[in-house]
Amino acid sequence: MTRVLVLNGPNLGRLGSREPEVYGHTSYDDLVGRCTTEGAALGLAVEVRQTDDEAELVRWIHEAADTATPVVLNPAAFTHYSYALRDACAQRTAPLVEVHLSNPAAREEFRHTSVVSGVASGTIAGFGVESYVLALRAVAGLVAS
Ligand code: DQA
Repeated sequence: MTRVLVLNGPNLGRLGSREPEVYGHTSYDDLVGRCTTEGAALGLAVEVRQTDDEAELVRWIHEAADTATPVVLNPAAFTHYSYALRDACAQRTAPLVEVHLSNPAAREEFRHTSVVSGVASGTIAGFGVESYVLALRAVAGLVAS
């Protein structure tokens, strides 16, 4: 079974209570369950993690690069300014799909820039928790090809 890391950046642990009008009512625990279940159906062993700490997220990306592990990454606010995260993602040795619950392109101007997109395999945004499901399907296709 291919292992996949689903990595979430700052504030995503508060999913469900955080600005539900923007991010929906699904809790973080429900997101974990959805990813794990969908992953199993696709033949992927999914491990979901969340951190508010940029250094920890960078370390997890290094771990994925060192073990050729595919990644689904929601960098949250780091998307828009973390060159450290971008440089870590540039070292990827397996597919890395950027995901967002909301559609940053349809929101405030500062969200229109992603410093991660240019080094990702692709980006899926705007479909709520379904963005993660679509990303896992993309990863399954990429590792099979
Ligand atoms: C987000 C979008 C980002 O702009 C924001 O900072 C987040 C969540 C999303 O999933 O829609 O924290 O990545």
